Amino acid sequence: MDLGLHDQNLLITGASGMLGAAAARALAAEGARLALLARDPAKVEPLAAELRTLGAPQVAVVRGDLAQATSTDAAVAQAVDALGQLDGLVAAAGAAQGGVFWEIDDEAWQRHLEAKLFGTIRVLRAVAPRLIAQRSGRIVLIVGNSAKYPEPRMLPGAVANSGLLAIVRGLAEELGPHGVAINALNPGPVRSARWDRQMRDIAARDGVTPAQAEAGFLAKAALRRMATPEEVAAHVAFLVSPRAAHMTGTSVTIDGGTVKTP
Ligand SMILES: NC(=O)c1ccc[n+]([C@@H]2O[C@H](COP(=O)([O-])OP(=O)(O)OC[C@H]3O[C@@H](n4cnc5c(N)ncnc54)[C@H](OP(=O)(O)O)[C@@H]3O)[C@@H](O)[C@H]2O)c1
Repeated sequence: MDLGLHDQNLLITGASGMLGAAAARALAAEGARLALLARDPAKVEPLAAELRTLGAPQVAVVRGDLAQATSTDAAVAQAVDALGQLDGLVAAAGAAQGGVFWEIDDEAWQRHLEAKLFGTIRVLRAVAPRLIAQRSGRIVLIVGNSAKYPEPRMLPGAVANSGLLAIVRGLAEELGPHGVAINALNPGPVRSARWDRQMRDIAARDGVTPAQAEAGFLAKAALRRMATPEEVAAHVAFLVSPRAAHMTGTSVTIDGGTVKTP
């Protein structure tokens, strides 16, 4: 199926990260024109070159730190200048760590929420009025299944994700009359250095091996395995494509059947 992404202008945050990079590759292969927002442009330049070879007609890299509103606004403006207009946003930046609830202090909570929840709020605030003005656009937030299935050792991420799902639901009402859609994608765990670190931490606390800690998580998934970044990216590509035009204010969970509600 042609997703209709050819020559669509898309902004991606978090492209230096695992899922953002995978999404960028999938979108480049569909012929989308891309702007990558990164704190350190040098970090994503090799990816930008790869995306051009994969089929992206244009790839711009814009410097932006989602921890600061002025930097975020400037980066979004730069992306619009580079691409001409924006047809969509894929927000894949930020990640929260875990821990035992009563050992996570205020400063750590603030850091976790800042990275994902507030960073995403800032980029939405910068992008939404532009999409409203042109009366079209699609937004996809990579959120996570922990909003619907909060693991006790990963509550900061779950809280950030719950907040983002509330924003998706509410903002859809605001954006819909202007032809703009917003949805979330909720992956379960995907193997990464961060995941491996979390498993080591949990294993050390629980007196088991990291493999046993991981098996405990995977036992909750009907498919008994993690998703690959490419599987997550395929869903991003669909959700940000014109093929998903009539879908808004909701989320798709891709977690191998961990969240059991339909
Ligand atoms: N991986 C999983 O298993 C999984 C599962 C469910 C949900 N998710 C969610 O999916 C998203 C992406 O996950 P991931 O595994 O790809 O994470 P990752 O590899 O750790 O990448 C995180 C990305 O966020 C960027 N970032 C962080 N703070 C930023 C800031 N202030 N300004 C701009 N960019 C910033 C990082 O940029 P720098 O390179 O500059 O640090 C990096 O590109 C996260 O929100 C995560 O919670 C992940």
